[in-house]
Amino acid sequence: MRIFSGIQPTGAKHFGNYSGAFRQFVPIQEEGEAFFCIVDLHSITTAFEPEELRESSLDLAAMLFAVGLDPDRSTIFVQSHVTAHPEAAWLLSSIASYGQLGRMTQFKDKGERQEFISAGLFTYPVLMASDILLYQTDVVPIGDDQKQHLELARDLAERFNSRYGETFKVPEGRFPPTGGRIMDLQEPERKMSTTDGQPQGTVLITDPPETIRKKVKSAVTDSGSDVRYEPEQKPGISNLLEIMSVATGEPIPQLEARYDSGGYGQFKSDVAEALVTLLDPIRMRYEELRADESELRAVLARGAAKARETAAPTLEQMYERMGFVRP
Ligand code: AMP
Ligand code: TRP
Repeated sequence: MRIFSGIQPTGAKHFGNYSGAFRQFVPIQEEGEAFFCIVDLHSITTAFEPEELRESSLDLAAMLFAVGLDPDRSTIFVQSHVTAHPEAAWLLSSIASYGQLGRMTQFKDKGERQEFISAGLFTYPVLMASDILLYQTDVVPIGDDQKQHLELARDLAERFNSRYGETFKVPEGRFPPTGGRIMDLQEPERKMSTTDGQPQGTVLITDPPETIRKKVKSAVTDSGSDVRYEPEQKPGISNLLEIMSVATGEPIPQLEARYDSGGYGQFKSDVAEALVTLLDPIRMRYEELRADESELRAVLARGAAKARETAAPTLEQMYERMGFVRP
């Protein structure tokens, strides 16, 4: 089984990334041949600083190893090191429709918040499809916000296969049963995000314990004082329940029963401690791994070599089936 997922390097990684993505990555690498791609080419689709981009790919590599990815088992690499990705994206853009890309909710949401809407932001999902399809991927572990993009990748695979002959596997998404969409602690109607969310409402994986405690303490709660999972009526508390369930592995009903009518105070402080217990060791491992830049670069170089070799035959088939004269 082939597994593929991508993560943007820019923007500090937060508990939402952990919950929706990283947490699934670790067990899934045992199920087959996994590729985890640091999608730096996606990072230039909204405003970015070259200096930040330069640091962030190594930051993310260290983070992926800190959460438990094993470079001997999985292939971890940087997207721009494998030129097949933008090449395949260009070929696929010929079968992606302007209308369908315009209906992507992430494009509409992000577009609304940008002064300058780049063409890259619009074609972003085509590059994501090329990431996935080049590897003949079976399963894509992602958070709920990427569902529509995965659907587009599946459509493009099917369209290409029917127009030019069977070339791509049609991939399936894998979404976490809980914690697939973690919300901002200050604005529980919005997903947790470093780029669009509030700093105070976003728990970073590298936040020190005191910062985590402060952020959770000031999290918005709802009227009433019972700790119950009702996302419509109680978005704040439901989000905290989900966070605690992800952090401790305890099912939500069990947590509801424990905190039922105990009020929000104790509950919030336990949520904070659960997060500290989970994230503190990750932060310490991260700092240690991040310090050894030459080792990180060496692992990424090995990853890129493996990725190039794996992607090349698919790209070659695409060119041939589409009628290009090959050199
Ligand atoms: P990004 O950092 O935007 O590239 O996202 C990397 C992964 O984290 C993707 O699989 C997303 O679906 C997931 N993700 C991002 N934000 C959240 C969130 N608030 N809740 C759950 N998963 C998320
Ligand atoms: N669009 C994804 C996100 O923002 C990142 C991504 C790029 C991705 N290419 C991918 C995820 C391929 C899964 C597979 O989260």
